[in-house]
Amino acid sequence: MLYALFKPLLFQLDAERAHEMVSRLLRVAGSSPVALAAMRAMYAYDDPILAVTCAGLRFTSPLGLAAGFDKRATMIRPLAALGFGHIEVGTVTPRPQPGNPRPRMFRLPEDRALINRLGFNSPGMLVVSRRLSAASRQSPASTLSPVVNHSSSAVVGVNIGKNRETLLEDATYDYLAAFVALAPFAAYVTVNISSPNTPGLRHLHERAALEDLLGTLMQMNRQLAQPRPLFVKVSPDETAAQLDEVVDVAQKVGVAGFVATNTTLDRQGLRNSNRSETGGLSGQPLTPRARAVISHLYTATDKRLPIIGVGGVASAADAYDHLAAGATLVQLYTGMIYEGPTIARNIKRGLAELLRRHGYSSCAEVIGSAVQ
Ligand code: FNR
Repeated sequence: MLYALFKPLLFQLDAERAHEMVSRLLRVAGSSPVALAAMRAMYAYDDPILAVTCAGLRFTSPLGLAAGFDKRATMIRPLAALGFGHIEVGTVTPRPQPGNPRPRMFRLPEDRALINRLGFNSPGMLVVSRRLSAASRQSPASTLSPVVNHSSSAVVGVNIGKNRETLLEDATYDYLAAFVALAPFAAYVTVNISSPNTPGLRHLHERAALEDLLGTLMQMNRQLAQPRPLFVKVSPDETAAQLDEVVDVAQKVGVAGFVATNTTLDRQGLRNSNRSETGGLSGQPLTPRARAVISHLYTATDKRLPIIGVGGVASAADAYDHLAAGATLVQLYTGMIYEGPTIARNIKRGLAELLRRHGYSSCAEVIGSAVQ
């Protein structure tokens, strides 16, 4: 309701400026216990039917916030108060970097989509690890323990990437540095090999590079007192054969699962004039492709590795269909820009209704139900 008034004003601003303004508001809210309590009262929706376990972690609902919204780990508490069951911070690079020149984020309202070419703007792993460490001290249950026992707490994952200047053949060192700095303060880690805005990054889907990268990270992971579930975030623009290669490597080295998918380079069927901007496309037009990748991975892994489904989720039906396609959790980013802060509550409420209408008594039962 409030967002309906606020949105036309926000949409007058450059998309990144609008995001910065909203982030500032969320940060202010996050520093006030009263504001946080008010947000929880407004946005909370809890229902035991939504509880789900993924990679040994317990989530109050399958719905999380995708990487890119909170790259700096400054909004965890207010985002949890909006009702997200998990928040994926990042992408975080080892060294700070500014990303691409502005403007670099564009709305396509008729298409319910965004194009971004931010290019991993990141304060760097040291700043983010300090913030995650502080956040985990404030609410240890939400980040470190596999048990989430408070309705407003969210599981916090971290998404890692490489610096733009780092040569592709040295990428493993960057990921390793970021993993070592950040994994101790996150419940799970996502290895992002799929942003279209870091030149060459998607070559890390290739077997030799991926074996080196994931093999090294898993070796380090096993040294941790409590190894973290490691997810690989894949691109929606890979062929089935390339995805199968990723699955093969992932299974060999023992990663926990996949995040599917990142933004696409495809531009089919778009109407808004921003469609020719360079960058990754997210939102509604990505939905069918993301869902196809989810199903493909679900089948290719013999249903053994969990998938975090992301791409075009803006309603309960979208979330339900990602789960039915084989996802264990779902995430969104672009939907929040168009639907506003009530999106998590509305999706969770609608999803609980849909599950009951289809005769399910838990979220886990619907996973993969649409896959032959
Ligand atoms: C993203 N996304 C993203 N993904 C990632 O792994 N690391 C990142 O830093 C970012 N940054 C980012 C910025 C912006 C402005 C957008 C819109 C998206 C991709 C995001 O996590 C997600 O995979 C896609 O956006 C698809 O989901 P939605 O947006 O269609 O729900």
